[in-house]
Amino acid sequence: MRCFEHPDVILCPGGPMLLRGQHAVEDADGLPHETTRPVTAVCRCDKSASYPWCDGTHKSLPPRLRPA
Ligand code: FES
Repeated sequence: MRCFEHPDVILCPGGPMLLRGQHAVEDADGLPHETTRPVTAVCRCDKSASYPWCDGTHKSLPPRLRPA
């Protein structure tokens, strides 16, 4: 049985997707971006100035524009 106490992927309601460990994230243009931190926040609202990484912009969006 697999332990889910520390999942590798966490979807934050209204915010980013957190990735634990080393991953490659492909952007809309097909360019790969490698994670460099133990935990990386990936933008899900498409408004980040640092896309594909979350820069906190989602916090300023009205609730209806935030990711589910
Ligand atoms: S989810 Fe944080 S800036 Fe998009």
